Amino acid sequence: MQRTYSLCVTQQRMPRNRTYLMCPPEHYEVAYAINPWMDTTTPVDTELALKQWERLRETLSGLGHTVHVLAPEPYLPDMVYAANGAFTVDGVAYGARFKYAQRTAEASAHRSFYEAGGWQFRAPTQTNEGEGDFAYLPAAYGGLILAGYGFRTEPDAHAEAQDMLRRPAVSLHLVDPRFYHLDTALAALDDRTITYYPGAFSAGSQQVLRQLFPDAVLADEADAYAFGLNLVSDGRNVVLNSEAIGMARKVEAAGYTPVLVELSELKKGGGSVKCCVAELRP
Ligand code: ARG
Repeated sequence: MQRTYSLCVTQQRMPRNRTYLMCPPEHYEVAYAINPWMDTTTPVDTELALKQWERLRETLSGLGHTVHVLAPEPYLPDMVYAANGAFTVDGVAYGARFKYAQRTAEASAHRSFYEAGGWQFRAPTQTNEGEGDFAYLPAAYGGLILAGYGFRTEPDAHAEAQDMLRRPAVSLHLVDPRFYHLDTALAALDDRTITYYPGAFSAGSQQVLRQLFPDAVLADEADAYAFGLNLVSDGRNVVLNSEAIGMARKVEAAGYTPVLVELSELKKGGGSVKCCVAELRP
C-alpha cells in the first residue's frame, strides 16, 4: 500500500555550546543618564536586579553554556552590561573605548580579563562599545561583522575592528535614540540568521540589511521597545526578557525556542538580556 506524506518541513534549529561573560549588578544603580531609558529619579531595587541577573545566569548555564563572571567594581554601576566591554572573534578580543566618562574605567577591567585568559587583546584607538555595537555571524559570507554607529561607536572603529579581527564589517546607521546600540535593534539568531527592527536604521542601512539578509526575522517597533531584540541565542534557544511576548512568538514561528527571563530592573539602565552577556568566541 502506498502512503502519501504531506510535505510539512519544520526546520530543526541546532544549538551550539557557547561561552559567555557576565558581571553581577552588585553596584548597579541609575546614578546618571546617558540614554533615554535612564531616569535618575526612578528608584532601582539592586537586590531584585541581582536576583534577576542570577536567574539569567542560571538560565544560560542550564542550557549547557559556560558562563564566566567578571568581578564588579564600585562606582561602575553600568558594569552589569558586560556586552559593552569588548568584541571577540576567533580568539582575538577587540577592546572597548567608551563614549561617556562614567563608563571609561570598565574597559580596563575587561582588558585584564582577556589578557589573563590568553586572548590576543587588541587595544582600540577609536570609540566603540564592544558587542553593544558589534554582532558576528560566523556562517554568513564566510564570517561577517555587523557594526552599528550613530550614537556610541564611531564608524572609524568599524574599520579598526575589520582590520584587527580580519573579517568584513558592514556599517549600519542607527537613527532612533531609543535604540542607541546595535544590540537593541538587531540580533543574531544563529550563525547566519538575524532578526532586526528596520525602523531603528537609516533608509540606506535598511536597504543593505534587506540585500544581505533576505531571510531575516523582522521585528516591529513594539518588539524593539520591549527590548525583544536584546536577546541571546545559541542557535536554537532564544533567551529574551519576559515583556517581549510578541518577539517570543516571532522567533517561535521561525523555529526557535523562546526562553523568557524577567529583567525589569536592568531595563531602567537601558538594557536587557544581551546587554548583560558578552559572547566569548575563542
Ligand atoms: N546604561 C548603559 C549605557 O547607557 C546601558 C548599556 C546597555 N548595553 C548594551 N549592550 N546595549 O551605556
